[in-house]
Amino acid sequence: MDIEARTRWGEVLFDPAEPAERRRMRLLEAALDPVTISGLSQLDVQPGWRCWEVGAGSGSIARWLADRAGAANVVCSDIHIEPLRDLAALGVQVTRHDVSTEESPGSDFNLVHARAVLDHLPSRDDVLRRLATALAPGGWLVIDSAWLAPEVSSQPAISRMAWAMDAVMNRAMGTDMIGWPRTLPRPLEAAGLVDVSAQATVPVLRGGNANAGLVWHTLDAISGPALAAGLLTEEELQTARNLLTDPSFVDYSYGLIIARGRRAPGPRAPR
Ligand SMILES: C[S@@+](CC[C@H](N)C(=O)[O-])C[C@H]1O[C@@H](n2cnc3c(N)ncnc32)[C@H](O)[C@@H]1O
Repeated sequence: MDIEARTRWGEVLFDPAEPAERRRMRLLEAALDPVTISGLSQLDVQPGWRCWEVGAGSGSIARWLADRAGAANVVCSDIHIEPLRDLAALGVQVTRHDVSTEESPGSDFNLVHARAVLDHLPSRDDVLRRLATALAPGGWLVIDSAWLAPEVSSQPAISRMAWAMDAVMNRAMGTDMIGWPRTLPRPLEAAGLVDVSAQATVPVLRGGNANAGLVWHTLDAISGPALAAGLLTEEELQTARNLLTDPSFVDYSYGLIIARGRRAPGPRAPR
């Protein structure tokens, strides 16, 4: 794998057609859905709300939104839509869409939500601004950002692993899971949103739990290029793998930052 070339998600890393990636996505949902749903629940999503789930992945959050807003009111988009086939059968509008380069697949949304998507897009601040323009007056933009904090890990091998993960993904796709998430919620303010807030949640990373499983599979995906680039040694890799499956290992170096803001309520300016 050439990690110097900038690619899109799935081209050199995280191909959703691969069973290992499907497993990783299931673990991501198991680890992060409770945090995301707790955040979205604060907005009291109502039947009839127009919702856009950006970079929907395997679709667990789009499904949750469909249960509340009504399937026909939910648009879910991704550059890879095969994992979303079941949602289309439910009546959700499933759209193949590149949020970095294409116009929004609609407007006047009451809620636009993206989890672990903007972290992987080099043009994340432009994308965020564009997402904000797809909101109805009073509509909410919610950005959940996967956040690595290598410097707070209790274990050097886990810390090195986290730096290596971010570096490999950065070279491959332009990912930033260390620096950008910590700037939230400023990008939402820069996009002109109001009532802006943010909160970090750090679920326990415990050997063998879903969070550790997600990290284990992510490590597996990046280990080849990380070793080749000298970002990790074989020994560090093995130590990190052992810790991630050892229930006596507990760590708090990976979490989710949830930032939200809304478009000012009020009539649209005349066109
Ligand atoms: C880490 S996964 C998160 C999936 C889902 N949001 C979740 O949290 O369960 C990143 C997702 O972003 C999608 N993605 C990456 N680049 C994209 C782009 N330019 N436009 C739309 N989706 C993109 C990927 O295909 C993948 O489904």
